[in-house]
Amino acid sequence: MNSSSGKTIIITGGAGFIGSHVVRLFVTKYPDYRIVNLDALTYAGNLENLLDIEKAPNYFFEKTDILDTQAIDEIFVKYQPHGIIHLAAESHVDRSILSPLDFVYTNVIGTVNLLQAARKHWTGQFDDKRFYHVSTDEVYGALGETGLFTEETRYDPHSPYSASKAASDHFVRAYHDTYGLPIVLSNCSNNYGPNHFPEKLIPLFINNIITKKPLPVYGDGLYTRDWLFVKDHALAIDKVFHHGRNGQTFNIGGFNEWRNIDLVKLLCKQMDEKLGNAPGTSEPLITYVKDRPGHDRRYAIDATKINQELGWAPSVTFEEGLSQTIDWYLQNTAWLENVTSGVYQQYYAEQYSKR
Ligand code: NAD
Ligand code: TYD
Repeated sequence: MNSSSGKTIIITGGAGFIGSHVVRLFVTKYPDYRIVNLDALTYAGNLENLLDIEKAPNYFFEKTDILDTQAIDEIFVKYQPHGIIHLAAESHVDRSILSPLDFVYTNVIGTVNLLQAARKHWTGQFDDKRFYHVSTDEVYGALGETGLFTEETRYDPHSPYSASKAASDHFVRAYHDTYGLPIVLSNCSNNYGPNHFPEKLIPLFINNIITKKPLPVYGDGLYTRDWLFVKDHALAIDKVFHHGRNGQTFNIGGFNEWRNIDLVKLLCKQMDEKLGNAPGTSEPLITYVKDRPGHDRRYAIDATKINQELGWAPSVTFEEGLSQTIDWYLQNTAWLENVTSGVYQQYYAEQYSKR
């Protein structure tokens, strides 16, 4: 889809972690677009993420659940969107182990609801339309010591989260193959950065170092993830949305693998420097706890295709990105305090009382 003026784009999940960075990028970079943030504001949705752009004339917010077929229908009528960038999802593996059905509803049925609405309202007039589904590398399953996920890697999800995302990916491709819906997909590795909800590894551990609480490392700590700075993911989404060929999938990752324990030690080191602690102050907080069931050993993305076809590459090193992320959390203590109160506390108690 080219970037000519006057387009209306619905971004689902725009109040969440990645979605808020995508909304900000599109609102500021494309002043001629109307950007509609469609979000149900679950525990993970936070409009405080978007305070700096909420008054922009091209920004609109709709508090809507993607499971609400009638409301989605009305939004298509009201805005006549040219594009959907679909990020709304239940996104946390540990929550999916506790409540798998929530993941089936939002990630699978919610996605099909949106596909149905696009199919119904675009009525075969697909020339200037695009449905972009944002997905995860976790659909590919787990790697051993070597190898990388390519776009051709067979799907092999293990958690209810990754199974639900895999199902949604299949539905998006099915709507392309069956009804001709113009689609693109991307499967990205683990993101980190500002506005990350503090139940995921990096923000949880930043918060626990600040508050001097234990750092619960699952299992032997040798699980490996491929980390990408969230703003680089948003830039990749911009490229894929505008220039990815119809029907194509792009893997997005930073060629940046870290074993959890090494990442946590780097985080402790950077935090001690920034907090003015003596070297080695925070590492003793590391506590090995019971492993996550079905824990995937290693994820690593081959991002050659998006690099060669769309010219995208990460802009920051992990050390720089992590440093910027820590600075953001240290400068936004009110955000962190608001998020870590209430519902989050109940979840935290349930999740860690058994470990
Ligand atoms: P997040 O949990 O921070 O945000 C999800 C957003 O979706 C929230 O604002 C929430 O309110 C909204 N939402 C949830 N259920 C909804 C519903 N039924 N209707 C409308 N809105 C609803 O998630 P995130 O980490 O920003 O991830 C965004 C997307 O990117 C997800 O699809 C996820 O699978 C994918 N992804 C995430 C990562 C990562 O590392 N976080 C990596 C690759 C892909
Ligand atoms: P997470 O941030 O939940 O992302 P994902 O499960 O989607 O990869 O976890 C990243 C890694 O960190 C994963 O291997 C699980 C591990 N982890 C811990 O060791 N302790 C924790 O408290 C959390 C939340 C995660």
